[in-house]
Amino acid sequence: MSIIGCYRVTMDRLETSARLMIVSDLDHTMVDHHDPENLSLLRFNALWESSYRHDSLLVFSTGRSPTLYKQLRKEKPMLSPDITIMSVGTEITYGVSMVPDEGWVEVLNQRWDRNIVVEETSKFPELKLQSETEQRPHKVSFYVDKDNAQEVTKALSEKLANRGLDVKIIYSGGMDLDILPQGAGKGQALAYLLQKFKEEGKPPKNTLVCGDSGNDAELFSIPEVHGVMVSNAQEELLQWHAENAKNIPKIIHASERCAGGIIQAIGHFGLGPNTSPRDVAETADSHLEDAGPAHEVVKFNLFYERWRRAEVEHCETYIASLKASCHPAGSFVHPSGVEQRLHESISAMKKIYGDRQGKQYRVWVDRVLPSKISSDTWLVKFVKWELLGEEQQSCICTAVLTFEVVNGLHLYTWAHLHETWSEGSGAKDNGMWLL
Ligand code: GLC
Ligand code: MG
Repeated sequence: MSIIGCYRVTMDRLETSARLMIVSDLDHTMVDHHDPENLSLLRFNALWESSYRHDSLLVFSTGRSPTLYKQLRKEKPMLSPDITIMSVGTEITYGVSMVPDEGWVEVLNQRWDRNIVVEETSKFPELKLQSETEQRPHKVSFYVDKDNAQEVTKALSEKLANRGLDVKIIYSGGMDLDILPQGAGKGQALAYLLQKFKEEGKPPKNTLVCGDSGNDAELFSIPEVHGVMVSNAQEELLQWHAENAKNIPKIIHASERCAGGIIQAIGHFGLGPNTSPRDVAETADSHLEDAGPAHEVVKFNLFYERWRRAEVEHCETYIASLKASCHPAGSFVHPSGVEQRLHESISAMKKIYGDRQGKQYRVWVDRVLPSKISSDTWLVKFVKWELLGEEQQSCICTAVLTFEVVNGLHLYTWAHLHETWSEGSGAKDNGMWLL
């Protein structure tokens, strides 16, 4: 058995091949740092959770170290990925608990000696060391001017080769220079994962890679993957593409920024649904759609956000329709532990219409995983997030939804909703977390 085969993929949520595996860079790809409202990210989140989460895989592949990655998650409304690849493909972890892939570490140890890299780079005054958090076991990172980048890269490669090392030097964002083992990088990390999935007999049916800068280029050279360079891609990536991959039809340069470009690519390559529930206007009978229970959960929470932001009309029909979609005896357990009828909670919503109007307030759901527990009942587990200004908090939710088929459409009824605070969350004022 190969080295790779000895280590089981810890990603065993899916029993069969993922329908779609998205492998996306974060900064300026999934996350738009020029959009304080995070709209494209929120649109992607709603699409992913309503249509893909249950049978697909979300992989984040970032240059950030675990420290800076965790910081970004606190700042932006991001989903939880199934797999997190950090430090430019040198650290792979699985699941929410981020279990490291030890097998990958062994692969990277080959012909790598960090001390020699540090020693040789110290002889280049053009190289300015990045912060301590970004120096990792298989990654040494600097800042260097665009004008010096090429020359330094060339001289440094020669020096390190003379010392017997086999390294990869990557320039990104017109400022960052990373030195990694030759076998590392975002592309190699993805190839390693794909090989693992293959060995387990479940290669993804489709893979879409998404990026904007130099360290993403390798992702696009993996065979059999679709690729999207977001509209705001950096010069170095576009140049790499023009020189190396111009005629590959599986790679597009989107006309939309960041996560908007990812959604665009899903549509362009026909990889599955590409209409985000956030792009669909609210109507009182919008629950009359033939979609699954995850879609129902996404829509319900989206309506709640729009109601509090006063982005839907203040009309009784909505409340009546929401009530109609809840079982009369259905109960809601608030994260504080207080239990009441779902109908009562919905009546209470009348009072908070527009209370978040003009505020930076968002609601999104994460890890929406439905399981069918009887012929007409779904148990749906998910995490519900609320962002208000700078603060984010979340709840772990379990919902029971029954359904009937009316005129060929699935009609869902909420029978029960139970919420508990996630670790580190808990409202200072319980009343502000209504549902
Ligand atoms: C991220 C990392 C940095 C790296 C850059 C490019 O910004 O924090 O260390 O140099 O990505 O890969
Ligand atoms: Mg980026």
